[in-house]
Amino acid sequence: MNRTYSQETTSRVGERVRVSGWIASRRDHGKIIFLDLRDEKGVLQVVITPQATQAHEQAQLCRQEWVVEIEGMVQARPSSMVQEDSLTGSVELVAETISILSPAKTPLFALDTPGYEIGEEKRLTYRYLDLRRGRLQKNIRERSRIINFFRQKLLDLGFVEIETPLLTKSTPEGARDFLVPSRLSPGTFYALPQSPQQYKQLLQVAGFERYFQLARALRDEDPRGDRQAEHTQLDVEMSFIEKEDVLQLIETLYQGVVKTLFPQKHIPQTPFPRITYKEAMKQYGTDKPDLRKNKEDNNELAFVFVTDFPAFEWDEKRERWDATHNPFSRSQAKTPEELKANPGAILSHQYDLALNGLEVAGGSLRAYQSDMLQAGFEVMGYSEKQVQEQFGHMIEAFTYGVPPHGGFAGGVDRLCAILLEEPNIREVMAFPKTGDNRELMMGAPDHVSEEQLKELHISVQKDQKTNP
Ligand code: AMO
Repeated sequence: MNRTYSQETTSRVGERVRVSGWIASRRDHGKIIFLDLRDEKGVLQVVITPQATQAHEQAQLCRQEWVVEIEGMVQARPSSMVQEDSLTGSVELVAETISILSPAKTPLFALDTPGYEIGEEKRLTYRYLDLRRGRLQKNIRERSRIINFFRQKLLDLGFVEIETPLLTKSTPEGARDFLVPSRLSPGTFYALPQSPQQYKQLLQVAGFERYFQLARALRDEDPRGDRQAEHTQLDVEMSFIEKEDVLQLIETLYQGVVKTLFPQKHIPQTPFPRITYKEAMKQYGTDKPDLRKNKEDNNELAFVFVTDFPAFEWDEKRERWDATHNPFSRSQAKTPEELKANPGAILSHQYDLALNGLEVAGGSLRAYQSDMLQAGFEVMGYSEKQVQEQFGHMIEAFTYGVPPHGGFAGGVDRLCAILLEEPNIREVMAFPKTGDNRELMMGAPDHVSEEQLKELHISVQKDQKTNP
């Protein structure tokens, strides 16, 4: 007999079915035992009477979270027993046989509450249990729908999804790199990408005029509510476009996802309002203003574009100009001379999308003319040698025919957290890290064996080692 999902039983009244899942709860009323059976689609009430001898015996053994398979007859509940708030509330399964597929230890914490009250160390150490709770099941499934919406929309618009390497070279996005030692080239390291920035630009040189990727970006920075060491970006790049094309695409995607998947939510202003960086700082004192009329209303989504960021900011510590976002953004200077004359006054073709006070996307038109790109590096104090070492491949690639291009990346985790009304992006990620970047369930980061270190040509300072 094929498996029937809990939800499907409502259309199978009077039929024998086989269901499988976890026991969400068990109520023993002496003779009659009730089980709530949970599968990925919902919860089904199962009734076990003493007449069903085998089922009754097994049901007495069963406990919460045991995994079972049950065969029985679906019957309509008497109208007084119908539960309107449950998808399967009009039916119940009268069990004939129960097979225990796997017993389970008593869960370490409640699974039938939203779970905010439970200590995070515990929740993240036993994330596979934590994820069973209804709230997280919903979040992770909704996240998949959000990602799928973006993917399908971009494919419909003719974009090509291309994966770019994880083992790569440092690309500046303003954070520290995670490094991976190379076994075959002793003493050298790959960097994990802080974003696919350079690859997506090189794909424009390669003629993929509309690229996207749901890319993992890795940044060694201190996590907080809206920041993780690993996050997912909706990464997009296009050729032969102007700023307006990119902003239009962002509107299409973000308005689309809200209208399609969250029709109960409302966007107070479309097209999204635009404000320059200077104006935002002057009016709101931040470059990600929260323009909600009612900050208590979780259904209000106040998107706003912040444009015309300064191209450079002064880095006090290093006493030099640094790119406000990344060095590939196109400045609004007309000539290299203008750029170099007064870097602090030059604006860039850089735009961010803020939503309810969080930055949810950022992008720019790119500096594709070699002389302008070079001038930018000069302003930032890179020597010719440094430019060659770090960005020589980009500059060279641009000598082989580069289209004007630009794009953006949207923070998927932040968007999901806002749409799903979660206070923290950890609540919309399957396996997030703690505040000190540990993955508690697997136990990462971890020490490795002397043998592995030797193979990687790495020696660890004595005081950092644990016992082998
Ligand atoms: P940026 O650094 O602005 O741009 O990143 C794009 C978007 O990603 C989200 N984000 C994060 N989310 C969670 N945790 C983090 N640590 C984190 N860092 C960033 C934000 C942000 O708006 N290459 C450029 C994009 C481009 O120019 O095309 C980039 O990575 O929502």
